[in-house]
Amino acid sequence: MHHTKIAGIGFYVPEHTVTNHDLMRHMDTSDEWIQERSGIVERRFAKRHEETTSVLGAKAARIAIERAGITPADVDFIIFATLSPDYFFPGCGVLLQRELGITHTEIGALDIRNQCSGFVYGLTVGDQFIRSGMYKNILLVGAEVHSMGLDYSTRGRNVTVLFGDGAGAVVLQPTDEQNQGILTSKLHSDGTHAEQLAFINPGCHSGYHDKETDFGYDESVEFGGLFLTQKMMDEGMTFPTMDGQLVFKTAVTKFPEVIKEVLDDQGLTPADIDLFIPHQANLRISQFVQKKLGLPDDKVWNNIQRYGNTTAATIPIALCEAWEAGKVKKGDLICIAAFGSGFTWGASLIRW
Ligand code: UT7
Repeated sequence: MHHTKIAGIGFYVPEHTVTNHDLMRHMDTSDEWIQERSGIVERRFAKRHEETTSVLGAKAARIAIERAGITPADVDFIIFATLSPDYFFPGCGVLLQRELGITHTEIGALDIRNQCSGFVYGLTVGDQFIRSGMYKNILLVGAEVHSMGLDYSTRGRNVTVLFGDGAGAVVLQPTDEQNQGILTSKLHSDGTHAEQLAFINPGCHSGYHDKETDFGYDESVEFGGLFLTQKMMDEGMTFPTMDGQLVFKTAVTKFPEVIKEVLDDQGLTPADIDLFIPHQANLRISQFVQKKLGLPDDKVWNNIQRYGNTTAATIPIALCEAWEAGKVKKGDLICIAAFGSGFTWGASLIRW
């Protein structure tokens, strides 16, 4: 059976930089608070009306495709991970296909909705398709445009200051080289706290809260939305919300657990890791996990300072930056790990 290697990698972040000081003009926050609590100094925001999630994804994808030495027409499967899609439906996978000018239909497009762990989930799914021999050139993209959906009033500050826009992409291909490629992945989920880090409205769940008519509709219809009411908008129920402390506490437990799990699976230890790329949700979380693993600074790649949390895009952006900086060499053992909304979490070990 083949293994799966990353044959090409690329990333794209919008040009427009938004600093903590810029956010301070809209809400009651401070540069000190944001840096001290999260490590973030600035983030990128997409160009309104032009840079949608699929457009950012396509920019990263073109680079990954070129570096893999193929053309868009060679891609036989697309996996697109995002929590901030262009549309409610269809998903970004087909939009990316169109954006890349892939007109043939000998291709499938799958959308992954696993938030911060979307890239690890996508990588694991793609790995299985390559190993089974079903596909030969899988394009896996993680992309987000958070900036269009955040609450810029003080009410939303605990979430809004953390997020940024960007995209990362990889091309997955089979390799027959022994001990190369994705060695193992482990995925987990726990729906107990699904609403503790969530973007809930609009969604069909809210229909249950309002009175029903003969048609099964409720008063929201008059606002023309999908169960989106004026009340929801007035009360800020149409923005993401988070119980930050619960997420933080759970993340610092689950990261080390799942990393140990992938290492144990391969008979390896933290000392074998050449580069650790944690999901960038909070620099304090990454530093906690780094300490727990006993890794020196030069074996961990963090970029949350410059981009904030770009959710599904975070790991491919960081991996690509590290690769471009010469920190990822053939034979290196790379560990990626993520935790986020769901809760879902996971980790992979990759031999470059
Ligand atoms: O990628 C998805 C996964 N997400 C995460 O992993 C995020 C995990 N959680 C965190 O990173 C942290 O919990 C936060 C950075 C979100 C918050 O840090 P914290 O140290 O847990 O702060 P807190 O939520 O306990 O809030 C402390 C105070 C509160 O004020 P009071 O009640 O003590 O008066 C907040 O209202 O800080 C206040 N606060 C802010 N102040 C200034 C919350 N957000 C802000 C803000 N600026 N942006």
